[in-house]
Amino acid sequence: PFHPVVLSGGTGSRLWPLSRMAYPKQLLALAGEPTMLQATLARASGLTSAKAPLLVCNSEHRFLIRDQWAALGVDPMAAYLEPVGRNTAPAIALAALHLAASDPQALMLILPADHVIDDVSAFGAAVARALRAAQAGYLVTFGISPSSPETGYGYIQVGGPLGEEEGVNAVASFVEKPDAARAAQYLAQGNYVWNSGIFVFQAGRYLEELGAHRPDILAAVRKAWDARTEDLGFVRPGKAEFEACPSESIDYAVMQSSRKAAVVPASFGWSDVGSWDALWEIGKKDAQGNVTQGDIHLHDTRNSYVRSQGRMVAVVGMDDVVVVETADAVLVMPRSKAQDVKHIVAKLQKEG
Ligand code: GDD
Ligand code: MG
Repeated sequence: PFHPVVLSGGTGSRLWPLSRMAYPKQLLALAGEPTMLQATLARASGLTSAKAPLLVCNSEHRFLIRDQWAALGVDPMAAYLEPVGRNTAPAIALAALHLAASDPQALMLILPADHVIDDVSAFGAAVARALRAAQAGYLVTFGISPSSPETGYGYIQVGGPLGEEEGVNAVASFVEKPDAARAAQYLAQGNYVWNSGIFVFQAGRYLEELGAHRPDILAAVRKAWDARTEDLGFVRPGKAEFEACPSESIDYAVMQSSRKAAVVPASFGWSDVGSWDALWEIGKKDAQGNVTQGDIHLHDTRNSYVRSQGRMVAVVGMDDVVVVETADAVLVMPRSKAQDVKHIVAKLQKEG
């Protein structure tokens, strides 16, 4: 048995203007109904031997998130509310402290709330394999065959097989978000896979590894956890204590340095719906390769993503573009620049 731990704290800035601070992408029905958070919870509770899930999210989203789990009839073991985002290493540490308090060997399956998985039975088989390796003390991730030199992912150099367990390999090296030249080199080398961002380990093992590589983060989260309060079924870590925690991802804080990392190479139709280009990739295309949603009219246009929330949108004589219309903002860009939307969001935030 294991506990799914769903991370839903990101803001999805590359999916602006639809994904907003107050209403981030995992809480939207972006790739069709239900929302990505609901799809994640439903997928997790369908796995063999899954126990009640834990959620870790931003306090600002607590009611949206509670409505979404309630609509599914899910009853979480705990929902942790962060006063501010401190990235995934502290978020996972909160859930690990919760579980380790009663059982340090409790197994956790870490699930980002914003991933699409097409083949649920292949996913279940990969999780079963990972759970066995995690029981032996490994921090396990899932390796996805890379299809392009993406710079937004972690790259894992696949090492030799681990023990007798088939389909579980050592991690020879782990490089989080390499630059474009190194990503291209890893792709050409052929023995690298993308880190899926989904992890399996024992709660106590995660805390030990975090303590070994980032004792400052573990100490800060422990203080915040000790100062926690509970209300209306939500758990709040101490505000000042959590705010004082350094911000870092599990990938940089633990996975890059851990000597007990393992990888299950897997293919389960995984996609991180991180950008408009990714939504075009997984979307249902018409004969011209266009993905549309809403009141859209196209002429002489190919391989484009065009979406309208309200107004009628027309595109004429353009290929490979993204057009997204919402009530208060419109985005137009070449599909190849989809990663750069975050710069607009950063600029808008600075200008307030
Ligand atoms: N609770 C909480 N608090 N959740 C968070 C926070 C936080 O402060 N920050 C991020 N998350 C959630 C996001 O909502 C997302 O579901 C997940 O954690 C991963 O965060 P991302 O910000 O999307 O990470 P990434 O996509 O840049 O990189 C990670 O995922 C890649 C695959 O999608 C890394 O693990 C990469 O190595 C990996 O390749
Ligand atoms: Mg992501």
